[in-house]
Amino acid sequence: MAPFRDLRHYIDNLTERLGNDEVRIVDGADWDLEIGGITELVAEKEGPALLFDNIPGYPAGYRVFTNFMGTAERCAVALGLPVNTTKMDIVRAWKDSSKQLKLIPPVEVSTGSVLENVLEGDQVDLLKFPTPRWHDGDGGRYIGTACMVITRDPDTGWVNVGTYRGCVQGRDRLSLWMLGNRHARAIATKYWERGQSCPIAVVVGCDPILSTAAAIAAPAGVSEYEIAGGLRGAGVEVLYAPGSELPIPAHAEIVIEGVLLPLSEESVLEGPFGEWTGYYTHSGQETVVRVERILHRDDPIILGAPPMIPTVPAGDQAVPLYSASVTWDHLEASGVQNIRGVWAYARQLMMVVSIEQTGAGDAMHALLAAAGRKRSGGMERYFVVVDEDIDITDIDHVLWALFTRVDPHESIQVLRTPTTAIDPRLSPTKKAAGDLSMGIVLIDACKPFAWKDSYPKSNRFAESDRIALREKWKVVLQ
Ligand SMILES: Cc1cc2nc3c(=O)[nH]c(=O)nc-3n(C[C@H](O)[C@H](O)[C@H](O)COP(=O)(O)O)c2cc1C
Repeated sequence: MAPFRDLRHYIDNLTERLGNDEVRIVDGADWDLEIGGITELVAEKEGPALLFDNIPGYPAGYRVFTNFMGTAERCAVALGLPVNTTKMDIVRAWKDSSKQLKLIPPVEVSTGSVLENVLEGDQVDLLKFPTPRWHDGDGGRYIGTACMVITRDPDTGWVNVGTYRGCVQGRDRLSLWMLGNRHARAIATKYWERGQSCPIAVVVGCDPILSTAAAIAAPAGVSEYEIAGGLRGAGVEVLYAPGSELPIPAHAEIVIEGVLLPLSEESVLEGPFGEWTGYYTHSGQETVVRVERILHRDDPIILGAPPMIPTVPAGDQAVPLYSASVTWDHLEASGVQNIRGVWAYARQLMMVVSIEQTGAGDAMHALLAAAGRKRSGGMERYFVVVDEDIDITDIDHVLWALFTRVDPHESIQVLRTPTTAIDPRLSPTKKAAGDLSMGIVLIDACKPFAWKDSYPKSNRFAESDRIALREKWKVVLQ
C-alpha cells in the first residue's frame, strides 16, 4: 500500500478500507471538556475515530481528530500492516518488518500545503485553534499530545523528533514538558550553554506513522524521520521551515515555530495534566517556546491523543503493539525457544508471553528475557508467561491461566528495577530522594513442565470445535 501523504489521506483510508462507520463526525462539541469527555467514552468501547467539527467559538472546518488508532485494526491501517487478520499476526508482522527496517532519509520538497497560511508578527495567535481542555484537572489547554517536537543538534546537525506535551500559555507562548533524559532537552541545553535559545518546531497534526515514530526512543544520532521513512517505505516529504530552517512535514496541519528559551530566562507553571497512567503527578516551572511563526493548512486539524487510564485502548494503541513487537524481538535475540506470541496490556504495564515449553527452565528464561527488555524509565510491572493453548490477546483467558496454573508460593518472583518519574506508586519520600526503584513481578503461569502432560484436562471447547460450531450455528452464534 502506498504510504499516507498526510493526516487527511489517513482519514480517507480508514473509511475506504474499514468502512464508513470507522470515522464519526461530531458537530458542536465544546473544546472545554466535551471533546475530551466524548473521546474517553467512545475510546473505552473501542469505538470509531472521531472528527470534531463546528466547535463553538471557532470557524467551521477547524477540527480536532481523536481516537485515531483506538483499535488494533486502525493501528494496522496506520502502520501499513495486514488488516484482516488476528491481533497476534499484526504484532508478528510488525516484529518481522522491524527486523528489516531500513532508515530512509526525508525528501526535501520546495512547497507544501502547510504553507497555505503563514502567520507572523501580530498575527501569531495560538488561541485561534480549538485546542481542547481534555480533563477537568488539567492546568490548561494542551495542543501538543500526539505532536512532533523537532530540534537540531548544533554540533552534528542531527535532527531529533520527540513527543512532549505542549500547553497553550498565551497567544505566542507554548510550554513543553520534557523529562530529564529526553533528547530535545539535551539538544536545547547545548544552545543554552552557549547563551542561545534553541530553534524548535512543534507539529500538531501529521500522519500516524510520523506521530508513532516521534514517540519511539531512537538512539541519539538517529532521526525519527528516518525511522518514519523506513516504516512508510519512502522518505517523508519535508520542507525547511521559514525561520528555524528545521525540516517539517510538507503537508502537516499546523506547525508552531519559534525558540525554546533558556530556563534561566523564562519558565512557566506547567501542568498538571492527566497522564497516561491515569493520574496527575507532575506540575512545575517548565520550558517555554516563544512562538515566532505559525504555519497551517486551510481548515486545520489538531491531532489529539488525550491520555486516559491505560486499560483504555486510547489514541496511541501503537504503544502496546510496539512494546509487544520489540519484546518479542528481544526474546528471539535472547535465544528463547518456541515463542508463540507476545501481548501487552494496559499499554505495557503487563507483558504476556506464550511459549511451547520444551524444558523445565523455558518459562523462567522467557520471563527474564522479557524483563531484560525493560528500559530504565519504563513502567512495565508484571511479566507473565503462559502455555501455547492460552489466547494471550484475550484477558479472560490470561486470567484463567493466572488463577489456575500458578502456585503463588513458588511461581511468582519479585525483583526491583527503576520505574518512571511519573509512576503514581512512588512514595513522596522516595521521589524526593530521587530513588525511582520499584518492584516488578515475574509470574510463571505455565503448567509445571515436569507434569504438564498429566495436568488436569480442560473442559473448554478446543479452537477447532469452536470454529466448526460457529460455522454450523451462525444464526445462533453470530
Ligand atoms: C502520546 C505521548 C505523549 C508523550 N508525552 C511526553 C511528555 O509530555 N514528556 C516526555 O518527556 N515524554 C513524553 N512522551 C514520551 C516520549 O515521546 C518518548 O519517550 C520519546 O522516545 C522521546 O523522544 P527522544 O528520545 O527523542 O527524546 C510521550 C509519548 C507519547 C506516545
